[in-house]
Amino acid sequence: MLKTHTCGELRAQHDGQSATLAGWVNRRRDQGGLIFLDLRDRWGIMQVVIDKDSAPVAHQIASDARNEYVLQVKGMVRRRPAGTENTELETGEVELFAHEIKLLNASRTPPFYINKEDKIDEIVRMQYRYLDLRRPRMQKNIVTRHRIIKFIRDYLDVRGFVEIETPILFKSTPEGAREYLVPSRVHAGKFFALPQSPQQFKQLLMVAGYERYFQIARCFRDEDQRGDRQPEFTQLDMELSFVEREDILQLIEGLMTAIVEQISDKQLLFKPFPRIPFREIMEKYGSDKPDLRYDLAAVDISDLAGKSAFPIFQSNVAEGKPVKVIRVPGAGKVSGTQLRKDTAELEQIARANGAKGLAWMALPENEAEEVKGPISKYFTVDQKLELVERVAAMPGDLLLFLSDARKVVYAVTDALRRHLAAQLNLADPNQVAFAWVIDFPLVEWNEEEKRWDPSHHLFTSPNLEDLHLLDTDPGKVRSLQYDLICNGYEMAGGSIRIHDRALQEKIMLLIGQDREKAQRLFGHILEAFEYGVPPHGGIAPGIDRLVMVLAGEPNLREVIAFPKTQQATDAMVRAPSLVTPKQLEELHISVIEYEE
Ligand code: AMO
Repeated sequence: MLKTHTCGELRAQHDGQSATLAGWVNRRRDQGGLIFLDLRDRWGIMQVVIDKDSAPVAHQIASDARNEYVLQVKGMVRRRPAGTENTELETGEVELFAHEIKLLNASRTPPFYINKEDKIDEIVRMQYRYLDLRRPRMQKNIVTRHRIIKFIRDYLDVRGFVEIETPILFKSTPEGAREYLVPSRVHAGKFFALPQSPQQFKQLLMVAGYERYFQIARCFRDEDQRGDRQPEFTQLDMELSFVEREDILQLIEGLMTAIVEQISDKQLLFKPFPRIPFREIMEKYGSDKPDLRYDLAAVDISDLAGKSAFPIFQSNVAEGKPVKVIRVPGAGKVSGTQLRKDTAELEQIARANGAKGLAWMALPENEAEEVKGPISKYFTVDQKLELVERVAAMPGDLLLFLSDARKVVYAVTDALRRHLAAQLNLADPNQVAFAWVIDFPLVEWNEEEKRWDPSHHLFTSPNLEDLHLLDTDPGKVRSLQYDLICNGYEMAGGSIRIHDRALQEKIMLLIGQDREKAQRLFGHILEAFEYGVPPHGGIAPGIDRLVMVLAGEPNLREVIAFPKTQQATDAMVRAPSLVTPKQLEELHISVIEYEE
């Protein structure tokens, strides 16, 4: 080894010992006869002192060294003189008094600072990702990721799970998102597809009798990029045989609780995780993945509002459109001008999400004053008192009224909650709020294509209690899907699967895949289902999202070593890229449009 210790491990107890360190120059201070170097490696930072009189050669090398030069330093550990200790460094009690320095490599001046947290243009970070990854913040994230994955592997190993790799070159089958295709050289005109998830293989592994499977699985989806989406991402993919929904919820709840409590510095807000039916979560929060660290729930007051004298509420309620209230604690305690400004801004958000306006009332701080807001006059005193009670309002609260088609109310509820939480700082960054969403509808109506689409995927079992509705009212059938949500993200999705060929074919027909098409696309699964398939179910937490939340980062790119940019490119290696005409010819591909 070129080092005897890491740059993060020397302490007062090493006083007087000799040590050899190697790493990067984090910072250099030249005081003439003395040069101070902060040497950095993955484990920390150590101050090195070079004295011109006692080590003139080392002093010369140190004097030529610049940030990010790679050095090896031999010397003696000694306590720093009293009063010069650095409490911000773990090694801050000591320094290495250098006898000898070897220049292992020089470095060009990096395009951004490695040694301080700075706002850096993201595209530059991505282009020089190897330098970006050198920064302590990134190293911490990448190591956190490693720890979480290692913890998961150990946790599942002792519970009888087997990690099994499944193919990356898979077949094109509809599973939700658009696929990445890989042309076959050997079979002209034919393509592999990269898996959107190992869904079908893991079910086949249940047929194969493995009973408890998991994989840290790479998945590929050619979909629009967002902060919480990458074209190439990692799932903890799992499948279990002879289980019911409860078993999977318990297993994952135990795993997530252990990860948060043993590896992260975050606190779990809910224990056990609440279980919220899909319909209820939509009605309250307008989203199936709301951030539950704060409330701001929408309360349905349709019956009450319908009796008020406000014409819009009257007619909306008559048409079956809901009226809901979001209570914003304390937001009414501002001047009249400020209140008009705030509510105008909120109304803008409502309009941007499809609403025609946003009514509001601000409750006075003392009883002598009137309720403020243009719609106040349409409510009698008794109606206002009842309203206050229904939404548990306090003096000084702002009440926002949402009334429109249900879908619009959902969108506005979600948008207002996010906006208000950000503005009022309602989400505690130290908390993680997990919850289960259950009782999803099995299928959703696709108005464009005029057909039913599976809400999760087509292997998801209907709730057997609702089976009788499958022919008459498919939209009402609940499924055995479950989603784990956390801090406003969908963290995991899974379901108990159909394990009966006849039912599987029936669902395929329902979602518009006739027998011939189903056979062509899913023949392998349908056939396997004829050979003794056990009842089974599974789930797949997104590893990137989990690490992102536990590391307190705002997007997935901060926790993936080499992520794609928002334009779905790799800015460092510059991919995707053009290939030679010969390569294309071998693949039997002719490109009709080039983009330079
Ligand atoms: P689903 O499609 O819900 O389920 O995905 C499971 C979890 O994977 C993560 N995820 C993503 N993470 C980053 N970037 C993306 N583009 C992305 N897409 C999904 C999310 C999500 O909750 N085969 C099923 C699982 C099952 O039924 O067992 C599946 O893939 O955290």
